Amino acid sequence: MARDLYADIQEVLVSEEQLNQRTQEIAAEIDARYGAIDGADEILLIGVLKGCYMFMADLSRAIKHPHRVDFMAVSSYGNSTKTSGAVQIILDLQKDISGKHVIIVEDIIDTGLTLQYLRKNLIARRPKSLEICSLLSKPARHKVEIPVDYLGFEVPDEFVVGYGLDFAQLYRNLPFVAILKPEVFS
Ligand code: IMP
Ligand code: MG
Repeated sequence: MARDLYADIQEVLVSEEQLNQRTQEIAAEIDARYGAIDGADEILLIGVLKGCYMFMADLSRAIKHPHRVDFMAVSSYGNSTKTSGAVQIILDLQKDISGKHVIIVEDIIDTGLTLQYLRKNLIARRPKSLEICSLLSKPARHKVEIPVDYLGFEVPDEFVVGYGLDFAQLYRNLPFVAILKPEVFS
């Protein structure tokens, strides 16, 4: 029999309904903001793979403003639950972003080191504007201050999985955000 991922869950932190509602709210905020900017007839969502994929799909579907999507992949964690601090670009954007209105779409801000690096890297490419949208944030773990323009939920200092977020590449398919039982990590 296939392994039951649901049996590994200790607690659901953010439910499917909460995720859906907050995503619609963020999309409405983005529509309102860019609808009011002269010359911002188009925006570019840059998703940070892999963790962003589910949030990105739902957010993109909920945004009415014309937008394109592109993706980057960076390495930070490997199979461990601790950040290495070192960020490396594994997959870069397909197109130049100079003069574009860009929103980075992240799954979670933990130490903030990944976004700090990405932000600097993307600003150097001279976008017209650069905003940050993160589904989750763990304030207790931040090592650097990141200006977040759109935030889904704050979560406690726990390793979370689901809705795109993994532990050792599993649990991404869970439709909610949850904490795993301690024995799963050992
Ligand atoms: P940061 O650079 O420490 O902010 O970490 C950013 C990246 O680490 C996120 O984009 C996630 O991919 C991963 N990460 C951080 N915390 C968690 C977690 O609780 N669950 C799953 N992935 C996490
Ligand atoms: Mg990530």
